[in-house]
Amino acid sequence: MPDASGSASSSSSQIDHVLIEDRKFPPPSEFTAQAVISSEAQYQELYDQAANNRDGFWDAQAKENLHWFKPYDKVCEFEAPNAKWFVGGQTNASYNCLDRNIDAGIGDRAAIIWEGEPGDTRTLTYRELRTEVCKCAEAMIELGIGTGDVVSIYMPMTPELAITMLACARIGAVHSVIFAGFSAESIADRNNDAGAKLVITSDGLYRRGKVLPLKATVDEALAKSPTVKHCLVLKRIGNDDVPMKTGRDVWWHDVVDSQPGTLPATPLDSEASLFILYTSGSTGKPKGIRHTTAGYNLWAKKTFQWVFDHRDDDVYWCTADCGWITGHSYVVYGPMSAGATCLMYEGAPNHPAEDRFWDLVEKYKVSILYTAPTAIRAFIKWGDEHVEKHDLSSLRLLGSVGEGINPEAWMWYHEKIGGKKCPIVDTWWQTETGGIMMSPLPGITATKPGSCTKPLPGVIPKIVDETGKPVEDNHGGMLCIAEPWPGMLRGIWGDDDRFVEQYWATVPGMYLTGDNARQDEDGYYWIMGRIDDVINVSGHRLSTIEVESALVSHPAVCEAAVVGRHDDLKGQAIAAFVTIRDAQPDEALRKELKLHVRKQIGALAQPDDIRFTATLPKTRSGKIMRRLLRDVASGREIVGDTSTLEDLSSLAKLNDED
Ligand code: PRX
Repeated sequence: MPDASGSASSSSSQIDHVLIEDRKFPPPSEFTAQAVISSEAQYQELYDQAANNRDGFWDAQAKENLHWFKPYDKVCEFEAPNAKWFVGGQTNASYNCLDRNIDAGIGDRAAIIWEGEPGDTRTLTYRELRTEVCKCAEAMIELGIGTGDVVSIYMPMTPELAITMLACARIGAVHSVIFAGFSAESIADRNNDAGAKLVITSDGLYRRGKVLPLKATVDEALAKSPTVKHCLVLKRIGNDDVPMKTGRDVWWHDVVDSQPGTLPATPLDSEASLFILYTSGSTGKPKGIRHTTAGYNLWAKKTFQWVFDHRDDDVYWCTADCGWITGHSYVVYGPMSAGATCLMYEGAPNHPAEDRFWDLVEKYKVSILYTAPTAIRAFIKWGDEHVEKHDLSSLRLLGSVGEGINPEAWMWYHEKIGGKKCPIVDTWWQTETGGIMMSPLPGITATKPGSCTKPLPGVIPKIVDETGKPVEDNHGGMLCIAEPWPGMLRGIWGDDDRFVEQYWATVPGMYLTGDNARQDEDGYYWIMGRIDDVINVSGHRLSTIEVESALVSHPAVCEAAVVGRHDDLKGQAIAAFVTIRDAQPDEALRKELKLHVRKQIGALAQPDDIRFTATLPKTRSGKIMRRLLRDVASGREIVGDTSTLEDLSSLAKLNDED
């Protein structure tokens, strides 16, 4: 059966879908009986209210769900592309995640149950978490950080990662979390683009039993990050030979632990920047997606409650790293605003063995599990025996995010992990949307494997062709969002033009998601892959141009073209076609180029295949024919160890009219 996400089709006004998937799974009646949203009518009422009386709907939600130091004057001001929500009001996301829960009497509930890769554990109640957050915020103030300053965070998945994010939020500093797999170059680029003043990191992190020296990578980045004044270093590994630069670097235990831990949250403007998160777009430079305080916080909280049907006794585990948007919205801001108990795990899913996740689910009696298709495909490959060793009966709800989940993986998740009794919520959204946009509601939606089903209240999707006209049902087109929603991005850090061009210029008045989609006869949405040159590797977005630029920065490379090809495990793998000069097209060079990209961007971006070619196929106007390269990349005779130059120019001639 073909992949549900469709192929990475190029822009075309007519996109055919090839997947025929007509299995339907109604929610188990026991689940519906206790669900927060338990009838279609309830959903329809919420949806209609949000659609027909947007401001009235969100006004009521904001009053009920957030703390206001100062009430707002206006719910929404929108003139595409600029949106402001809860204008004139003051709130604080750290207050909403911590103080509000403590005031509501759940201060002694576990906020974070954490397990490190080596097996060490820690539990922090909401009250304890607030103290830690305050201490960290107090230390940041001593280091000269105030409202509006940017703090880069390059940390392992320890409680301190969430603590630093919330500490920034507490004082109005803007966090920019950089996934701890990115290279020194990538950290420096992000520091410089954002003008970061402080970097928070650790002496290292554990990954599959090995130690990755994070501080050493940060040191390399800081040599090229002139705006950064200080580096705060958590001792995670206990590594004593970490060089500390006098006047710049400080240990966490020296400056954080001794603080009083009582700092009140700063009242912040609704539209104060909460964070920047860098993500790939269709041009080379990663873009800093900017989210603000009140609207984002409300969106993360409400979508968490709707989609995960959260109850007080749930143990919720989102396996994402806080380096990605999923970690921001569904490890920290969403669940914590809702007072959830969140499991957090530091390490790899296959350390010390392939059953680590299932061991954790059993040990902590996880009831809601939110993970990614790429992980599910790896579990399938590792074998059912790892799952069967464990009692997973605590699970009641499963979620999926990051890419389309192919029906085989969906069925395995449903049967082997969910024991056929847990609804699966396939959640579609993006870094830019701040939170989930389309998803089944677990108590009411009959799910179809591979479909993210229907929009949440407040989301008005439209599928249009290149002229902006809606396409007919069951025809693919560009997925846009017609109305503003509270969690929407407010811009690209420092680049208003790119913000307009990327999201608002193609279909005037609507937000362009960059995804193709179709809607079936039941009104269900199916995501069909990207419109642009973005590839999705293990649920993470990478721009082909970023990888190309990294390749071309190697002296042996003249020109490079990168495309995605199907990969059973990762969703997409990276195939690079390069032309070279003054070098031998051999295995050694292939290895060197892979490492070069890894060093420039990070391990995620390392090409899987490198093919040397005499020329790249181009159209008469000089455009690289990516569609053709995609075909070549996914052909049967994949790369192998051939060290001869391939000549793709004849193919180019054949396809010159494309
Ligand atoms: O193409 C869609 C795919 O991931 C893109 C967003 O990537 P990112 O900003 O890194 O956020 C990932 C986590 C939300 C989307 O444009 N995508 C994400 N979730 C799904 C998906 N594609 C199909 N189905 C999904 N559930």
